[in-house]
Amino acid sequence: MKKTVLITGATSDIGLSIAQKHVYEGNFVVLLGRDEEKLQSVVGLLGEDSCAHYVWDLNALYSLKPLLKDIVSKHGKLTDLICAAGYHKVQPLKLISNEELMLMMQTNVHSHLMLCQLFSNSLYSNKMQNRSVTMISSIAHFVGEPGLVAYSAAKGALISASKSLARELAPRNIRVNTISPGWVETKHTKDVANTLGNAALEKLHSLYPLGLGTPKDVADACYFLSSDASRWITGLDLVIDGGRSV
Ligand SMILES: NC(=O)c1ccc[n+]([C@@H]2O[C@H](COP(=O)([O-])OP(=O)(O)OC[C@H]3O[C@@H](n4cnc5c(N)ncnc54)[C@H](OP(=O)(O)O)[C@@H]3O)[C@@H](O)[C@H]2O)c1
Repeated sequence: MKKTVLITGATSDIGLSIAQKHVYEGNFVVLLGRDEEKLQSVVGLLGEDSCAHYVWDLNALYSLKPLLKDIVSKHGKLTDLICAAGYHKVQPLKLISNEELMLMMQTNVHSHLMLCQLFSNSLYSNKMQNRSVTMISSIAHFVGEPGLVAYSAAKGALISASKSLARELAPRNIRVNTISPGWVETKHTKDVANTLGNAALEKLHSLYPLGLGTPKDVADACYFLSSDASRWITGLDLVIDGGRSV
């Protein structure tokens, strides 16, 4: 049965790849991002019949309910939620302000939990279909890295929350899982890589027995977790990191 999949961070390389996989499999995707131009270029790649897009800032929680009402009235109830948006900033502990910490938690965690709350309501998602939530975390929640204290805390919080969400939403037939990728080559990480010297780059590559990841590696895992092939899987954190943490 055709699904209607809501994707945050659809303008990121990983979000785009997830959207492409769902469209390839015949599903309809609703794309969220902050930048109309970037969203338009994603629509151009996916085809207008396969998707709808909405400009929305994760921190504008006051407008979340009207946004979902609008989506449902135009495209029908959702079947899956994929939380791919993320805010990442390298900051040594001594430089982290309370405001930054709040922004990190608000953008990565609070907004997605509020989305889960609405998604789990049958006004917005279709209780007649198998429903799923998949949130993109990071291996940063268990592989320590200087400068990633706030990011690690936020990504770890998503996983902790997903365990209780999985238990709480199972009676409504909603599965909740997370994915923790290692270093995936995206526009964002390529910019970071460009700031590294040769020695640091060599060290990075040496940490990954199967090499660095691609957005498609994450998209394939994410598709699996929202498909019926994983109908008995909930509360899982799927680590995909080419052997980095083994
Ligand atoms: N790349 C990696 O190696 C890696 C590893 C582990 C986990 N991850 C996670 O995978 C996800 C995608 O990463 P990426 O590297 O492909 O992309 P990215 O460059 O980190 O993109 C971030 C995405 O989040 C959206 N976003 C950020 N702040 C937002 C806000 N306030 N409101 C709405 N949207 C917001 C951005 O949308 P705009 O277009 O509006 O900026 C963009 O689509 C993130 O959650 C990231 O933490 C990535």
